[in-house]
Amino acid sequence: MTIKSRTSLAWQLYLLTGFVAGFVCAFVILFHISSINRSVSTRNSAVSMKFEHLQKEFQLKVASVRVLCMVLTCPEYVERFAQHVNATWGKRCSKLVFVSSENYKPLGVVQVVEPEMDSYHDLWNKTREGFRHVWQEYGQDYDWFLKADDDTYVIMENLHHMLSAYDANVPLYFGHQLRIQNVNYMSGGASYVLSREALRRFVEQAYGSHKICPKPDKIGVEDFSMGICLQNVGVHLIDSTRAMTNDDKEKFFPLDIESYLYNSKSALPAWLREMSVSDVNTGPNCCSIYSVAFHYIKPDRMYLFEFFLYRLRVFGRKYVERFPKRWTLSELLEMFPLQNNSKKPFMPVKL
Ligand SMILES: *[C@@H]1O[C@H](CO)[C@@H](O)[C@H](O)[C@H]1NC(C)=O
Ligand SMILES: *[C@@H]1O[C@H](CO)[C@@H](O)[C@H](O)[C@H]1NC(C)=O
Ligand SMILES: *[C@@H]1O[C@H](CO)[C@@H](O)[C@H](O)[C@H]1NC(C)=O
Repeated sequence: MTIKSRTSLAWQLYLLTGFVAGFVCAFVILFHISSINRSVSTRNSAVSMKFEHLQKEFQLKVASVRVLCMVLTCPEYVERFAQHVNATWGKRCSKLVFVSSENYKPLGVVQVVEPEMDSYHDLWNKTREGFRHVWQEYGQDYDWFLKADDDTYVIMENLHHMLSAYDANVPLYFGHQLRIQNVNYMSGGASYVLSREALRRFVEQAYGSHKICPKPDKIGVEDFSMGICLQNVGVHLIDSTRAMTNDDKEKFFPLDIESYLYNSKSALPAWLREMSVSDVNTGPNCCSIYSVAFHYIKPDRMYLFEFFLYRLRVFGRKYVERFPKRWTLSELLEMFPLQNNSKKPFMPVKL
């Protein structure tokens, strides 16, 4: 081998090594850059996927909340009121059942008490019988049971939203919480909601016992009586102001919503502040943006609500939804302990 060919071989080796080293460097750099890009883009898409997933999961959760609405009515009010509940908010219930003292098939009105027993004073019996009927016929098919009157208006989507944080196998009772002496109960006019387990306990343990539950005498105050029964079978009361981790305002209104919005001391009666367990607020910020139920809504105003809530838009306005946190069972029991019912329950004066 000549000197010339040896130098040329070394030269070729240098060239090859340089080439290989350069290639490896370039490859390492390229790989690094691409992996950075990849990890940034996977991180971004992971965030958006997580959000989409959360949103989907939430929609599913809200959609999977099955609510049966039991609306109390009477024969004279089927056409005047009940029919308009059916045409407005009632159509958004998973199941709508009207209970009365006379059947009326076209609207699915079910007779649960005798026709001659349908005055205001019979309201407690009607509510008891209504719940018994609903439990017997539909107890296994629904998670939550709303009791409303035929002059209540309910935003079902907001009810689903609130309930999505809870488990219907826990004995729970939601609404606007009132207290008289040692009895806590949810205002009837504002409507209230029982979990499946609360309704089961009501029907299987309370309904048949006059020690646990007031007799169906001529007691008009169904809501108060219901409170005694439920308190006595270990049902937890959840006032709507404390029901959601992302909102602490009133959601169930026993009185006209206008009286809350109109900021005047005299607009709301003194008993409401005295008996409510939560503070009663007035003025433009009185009430939850996720409000659920309104009392004293006559049919014409049901259609007004429908238009304002489901048709009318404020041009350009977008909403950012906030999701409530789901409690663990131990958090729930700590937040909403059972009421101390060791005293003899206070009974109302017989009317
Ligand atoms: C009740 O509502 C349903 C569903 O919206 C409707 O199909 C039905 O005709 C209504 N019934 C009456 C008697 O208005
Ligand atoms: C309550 O209603 C049931 C069912 O209609 C009836 O049998 C019962 O007599 C009623 N009780 C009272 C006290 O009105
Ligand atoms: C419940 O109230 C009674 C008397 O009102 C009292 O003696 C008892 O200690 C209370 N129990 C609890 C768990 O607070």
